[in-house]
Amino acid sequence: MMRIGIITASDKGSRGEREDLSGPALKELAQSMDWEVAEYIILPDDQSMLEGTMRQWVDELSLDLILTTGGTGFSPRDVTPEATLAVADRLVPGIAEVMRLESLKVTPKAMLSRAVAVLRKRTLIINMPGSPKAVRECFHAISPALPHGLQILKGEANECGTPTK
Ligand code: MTE
Repeated sequence: MMRIGIITASDKGSRGEREDLSGPALKELAQSMDWEVAEYIILPDDQSMLEGTMRQWVDELSLDLILTTGGTGFSPRDVTPEATLAVADRLVPGIAEVMRLESLKVTPKAMLSRAVAVLRKRTLIINMPGSPKAVRECFHAISPALPHGLQILKGEANECGTPTK
């Protein structure tokens, strides 16, 4: 079973001034894939806190996947992509490309998300925008390919030739 962590990046959410709806939406989506949500946290839009949590969840907990929501836009406080890139070993551009491509079919504002996807050790980290609607749209765009990617990352699969949808 894949063990995943969810980080909601939101100043207001972390102060309890706004209910986090995106984190729980991600939880539900993860559970629909039969993944175990091992960790969930709401953090302020603070680069060092975001980096620290990602490093800990990868280096100490060895989670398979970390999904973040929020902090990918243009506000000066939006630093989730910068935190993610700071902990990255390798980039996975295709995941963010597909999220934006599919999201553009729904809203032209999709191009305003600076979300990135990266690998650190054997963990995949994916940024998503900060609304439950955006989270669902982005998740549905990439979820068909994620199990295969995660299996390869874990060393549980190395054959890409098997026909899949
Ligand atoms: N992507 C999808 N699929 N659906 C959306 O509604 N909203 C956009 C964009 N990506 C959106 C989306 C908007 S309005 C913004 S400002 C950016 O994501 C950044 O959002 P964030 O700062 O909450 O991360």
